[in-house]
Amino acid sequence: MNILGIESSCDETGVALVSVDGAATPRLRAQALHSQADMHEAYGGVVPELASRDHIRRLLPLTRQVLEEAGAALDDLDLVAYTRGPGLAGALLVGAGAAVALAASLGKPALGVHHLEGHLLSPFLAPDPPSFPFVALLVSGGHTQLMRVDGVGDYELLGETIDDAAGEAFDKSAKLLGLGYPGGPALARLATQGNPAAFALPRPLLHSGDLDFSFAGLKTAVMTQHRKLGPTPAEASRADLAASAQAAIVDVLVAKSMRAMQLTGLRRLVVAGGVGANLRLRSTLDAGASKLGVRVHYPPLALCTDNGAMIALAAAMRVQAGRAVPDSTGAFDVRPRWPLHELSGR
Ligand code: KG4
Ligand code: ZN
Repeated sequence: MNILGIESSCDETGVALVSVDGAATPRLRAQALHSQADMHEAYGGVVPELASRDHIRRLLPLTRQVLEEAGAALDDLDLVAYTRGPGLAGALLVGAGAAVALAASLGKPALGVHHLEGHLLSPFLAPDPPSFPFVALLVSGGHTQLMRVDGVGDYELLGETIDDAAGEAFDKSAKLLGLGYPGGPALARLATQGNPAAFALPRPLLHSGDLDFSFAGLKTAVMTQHRKLGPTPAEASRADLAASAQAAIVDVLVAKSMRAMQLTGLRRLVVAGGVGANLRLRSTLDAGASKLGVRVHYPPLALCTDNGAMIALAAAMRVQAGRAVPDSTGAFDVRPRWPLHELSGR
């Protein structure tokens, strides 16, 4: 079965072709991605209307490119999957509309996929995929959650952020430091030259005993320290502040993830979402996990941030698990707000 996946929930247009054979792990055959980061950089964040328009421009050329790379034709497609939510309403509508129209023109069904389920299952595209059950740390620009995952579509929320997401904390700290958008990778780059212990920044809820997060206060603390550095801070001080902010975010993410492993007694931790690309997060998680004797699984680095492959993969795994309801009516809707745990009714 050949599944085309279309991602358009935010500022990346992603298209991919995944093939699935019986119960075997789905295979990624080709993928293409266009990031709008350069376009939004001038505004310091994503401009929804510009995002929607750019998705319209990119979707069909990317689809052609993917099919060509895979040596496949439109007629070879059996299912067209798209991101149904959560995300920007207009951006989601572009992907959903294109996917459903393409499916209808081919006489094939379409399937709306949850963006976070895509992230969560993306480590199954790694050379050494995890097995169920596992704890998932979902860390993206809009979400920070710990989930217990017992199977495809079987998700229990263990804890989440009560304010900003981890990605937002990276992006907002980066903005304060005058780094571009998206700030996460830029802050991580600057942090490599700094001392993570230079500034004592807060680690909110570190000892709260539960699995919730709070990152809004960190932004204020970074702002206060940045002001103290004066109008033209030395590059070394900026790097120290970047390193300290990154360390504060990472420390909380790692402590809560380890606590989740202890509370659930599970042996595998899966990390997904854009912040999962952060190398300090990866090395600190690996160190914590090896102390507890648990394994950490990551998606391939290129599939940490938004992409079409994870959408096609989630659709494939839903079909395999008998949990998909592909639709041939040509009707669709999008869910800009859509809690992941609603998928399993927990
Ligand atoms: O999952 P994602 O691509 O989009 C959402 O669904 O939100 O995540 C984007 C987030 C942004 O906040 C970005 O700054 C952050 O992931 N990010 C990083 C890194 N790469 C991306 N944060 C820290 N370090 C990185 N290397
Ligand atoms: Zn995402």
